Amino acid sequence: MKLGLNLVGNGAHGGGWRMPEAHLAASMDFALWKRLAQQAEAAKFHFMFWADGIAVRSSAKDDEQLSYDSRIDVFEPFTIMAALSAVTERMGYIASASTTFNEPYHIARKFASLDHISGGRAGWNVVTSWSEQEALNFGRDSLLEHALRYRRAEEFVDVVFGLWDSWEDAAFIRDKASGKYFDPAKLHTPHHRGEHFQVRGPLNVRRPVQGYPVIAQAGSSGPGQDLGARRADIIYTMQKSREDAVAFYSSVKSRFAAHGRSPESSLVMPGIMPIMGRTMQEARDRADRLGELIHPELGLAALIPSFGDLSGYPLDGPVTALLAETNSVKSAHARLAKELEGRSITIRELIHQRSASGHHVFIGTPASIADEMEDWFVHRGCDGWNILPPFFPAPVEEVFNLLIPELQRRGLFHTEYEGKTFRENLGLARPAHPSKRTAVAAE
Ligand SMILES: Cc1cc2nc3c(=O)[nH]c(=O)nc-3n(C[C@H](O)[C@H](O)[C@H](O)COP(=O)(O)O)c2cc1C
Repeated sequence: MKLGLNLVGNGAHGGGWRMPEAHLAASMDFALWKRLAQQAEAAKFHFMFWADGIAVRSSAKDDEQLSYDSRIDVFEPFTIMAALSAVTERMGYIASASTTFNEPYHIARKFASLDHISGGRAGWNVVTSWSEQEALNFGRDSLLEHALRYRRAEEFVDVVFGLWDSWEDAAFIRDKASGKYFDPAKLHTPHHRGEHFQVRGPLNVRRPVQGYPVIAQAGSSGPGQDLGARRADIIYTMQKSREDAVAFYSSVKSRFAAHGRSPESSLVMPGIMPIMGRTMQEARDRADRLGELIHPELGLAALIPSFGDLSGYPLDGPVTALLAETNSVKSAHARLAKELEGRSITIRELIHQRSASGHHVFIGTPASIADEMEDWFVHRGCDGWNILPPFFPAPVEEVFNLLIPELQRRGLFHTEYEGKTFRENLGLARPAHPSKRTAVAAE
């Protein structure tokens, strides 16, 4: 199985940063990230992934409610990934970058540069952005409508790929004798004019080391799955049970053929938050402690997009009905509606349930968590996992020291990197330049 670390601020659990052993101000402590990147590489992790948004993303109703949120101050992902790629040799680095609040030229250029700086270890998590707060930072009063975000994303990604294809691999001949720097026959200026973008090109960076950086995609709605099936190498997802994971896996993989791709050309990787202990009791105690540390104001803020403001209601009373629609994360809204169907649950219970950024939580010992990971994996619910540490650094160091050796003992996880580039280590082919692809097809 493939494994990535999904890094969120001070940890993906809302109460994590308040644990007595949690490192304070972890999110912007570069020395900590440098150490964790090197430890993750020693543990043979395939990648570190920086989830990101271009705003303080919270649905808190006011600054007082916002003041309980620890996901505020974070590094800009390209900056930290460039720095970390210089102190590691095999680790892959994936950054989220928005197709709604960027121009394709910026993104093509940044990822191509990072791919060269890192020696072929860059990855782009293509996101359409779901928060109203991002819209407010980029000259808009509200977020673009969901379907429109995806239409723009489809075209955006095509333009970026076109820009990466500006130059064939051998375009730069740099012939001192003749004075010719590149071969014009190997230049392919995109001249793109579409519904959303007008981009002439070419890109002012050479073709990326990997052909294209590794592409990840996390939208689980219909249009999200289609974008993933057309372009992604890695599909991130949130699944709450093995059955749901198996259904999602076959749904997304069944969309590949329509795009002329083999289902094996992409890896489905759900998120999990392991809450580990040396014994089951220790793990349960840790999970309880984490739950107690979620401040109710933080929990109430997180419920606003789905329920509206519940502050006037008793925490131990039942949750009110879900809002009919959301323009935010449609797949998460639909999943929540399904989870709540026919159940009575209190506001406090719901806050606790959603404490892991919506991801599935495995509470247990290294062996019991490895059992669950193996179970989903062998039943074709996933090709690997995106691990979300609840806080830093103890839980992630325990993953390196206890969980990884357990997975390796079972033959489920590699003990050495297979290659140099991120694609090689994921077992994914380097995409040929389109001019070469046509040549092969014509033969
Ligand atoms: C594991 C995972 C990671 C994600 N990471 C980000 C992120 O870093 N930044 C972001 O803006 N959206 C992120 N998203 C949100 C998705 O990109 C997408 O916008 C969202 O799921 C809404 O699309 P959907 O309605 O198709 O699911 C993530 C989603 C998942 C499941």
